[in-house]
Amino acid sequence: MVLVWDKTLFDEMYSAVLWTHGVRGSPKVPSAAGYYWIGKKASAERQIAVMLAKPGFASLSDIAIIGGGYGWTAEILIAAGINAISVDTSPHILATQATSEETEIRDALTARGFDPDNLPTLMDPDDPNAVFTGDPFSIWLRTDGKRTSIAVVGEDMANNGSRNKVKQALPGNLDGILTEYALDSMETDAESLELIERCEQLRPNPAAQVVHLISEGVGDLRLNTKTQAEWRTLLDDNGFNDHFVAKSNGVWI
Ligand SMILES: C[S@@+](CC[C@H](N)C(=O)[O-])C[C@H]1O[C@@H](n2cnc3c(N)ncnc32)[C@H](O)[C@@H]1O
Repeated sequence: MVLVWDKTLFDEMYSAVLWTHGVRGSPKVPSAAGYYWIGKKASAERQIAVMLAKPGFASLSDIAIIGGGYGWTAEILIAAGINAISVDTSPHILATQATSEETEIRDALTARGFDPDNLPTLMDPDDPNAVFTGDPFSIWLRTDGKRTSIAVVGEDMANNGSRNKVKQALPGNLDGILTEYALDSMETDAESLELIERCEQLRPNPAAQVVHLISEGVGDLRLNTKTQAEWRTLLDDNGFNDHFVAKSNGVWI
């Protein structure tokens, strides 16, 4: 059975450390269980910086990020001058993409025993020795007050019609397909291979690059986690020899 990436699963799998420099006089650092922009931003920026340094990737013009969530990684590519979209089937992502994160972060803090309107003294994100006197939510929420500036494409790419909608969502001609921690968000090899096959079907020609970004050692037994070498073997054994397997540190095989 395919895992449904609903709010409960995102809350179990992701947590945002809301104050990297801690809380004065307390070992308890406010964090919020869940999938939030502030929790993903820095790692997505690092991840894209190493990808753009790879030969070939920076020259792509139109990238579909499969399992791209709210499109925070797509936003970083767009800022780098590359057309990018997020394709994601998560009911939670599709239902909440046009809303603010504020209520969810407040609820997550309350669930951790914090009063969101009376938080402990937090340290400045730019200076760990200084107390931050502003409103923490001014850091945690995006300046546009939204969750994302991307319209997530809710297509599963199971047939030509669905795949065409993905292609049409890009301003130019699709030449890059990036699965973003989607292969290992499945439960079985069969499910992962089905998504890989859909990516191959989406691929307009062999010159289009396909990159599967994976994580190793997530440690959740529900997920189909593998080492990078094991993904390589699975792809090769099934004829996907020219798909890359990428780790966020820039190691591609
Ligand atoms: C582990 S989450 C990663 C989210 C985001 N890429 C990130 O790195 O923060 C995996 C995502 O893949 C999406 N996904 C799984 N199967 C998919 C499919 N067949 N088509 C599109 N998205 C899919 C899920 O909905 C979920 O949002």
